[in-house]
Amino acid sequence: MPTFTWNDSYSVNIKILDEQHKKLFTLIDQLHNAMSTGKGKQMIGQVLDEMLDYTRTHFTTEEDLLKKHNYPDLLKQQKEHAAFVQKVSEMQQKFNNGSLTLSIEVSQFLKDWLSKHILGADKQYAQFLTEKGEH
Ligand SMILES: [Fe+2]
Repeated sequence: MPTFTWNDSYSVNIKILDEQHKKLFTLIDQLHNAMSTGKGKQMIGQVLDEMLDYTRTHFTTEEDLLKKHNYPDLLKQQKEHAAFVQKVSEMQQKFNNGSLTLSIEVSQFLKDWLSKHILGADKQYAQFLTEKGEH
């Protein structure tokens, strides 16, 4: 049973971004489950790769939409995104070379980061994009 699930309180009122956020919740939940049920390193590595890949895709979609409308706080979004990608890429490298064991703290960090980012920085563009006619 998923423990980390998207609900309406995370909605930014933009269909594609909500869908991508949902998928990220699912991937982080899968990673958490793979770790907590003692799945092999290869499987955990695959889910981590997929999560990071999808995160990059999502950030690009989001930033492109914000750029299209000259969103005034774009830089804040880009900085938060870049810091997250860097941190997770480092985790991925350390995991791949064996110097990091993915633990519950890691999946907890991912969950906390995503929740805070959506409820903070992302919610801030919701009304702006709605007023620009995006939905
Ligand atoms: Fe964002």
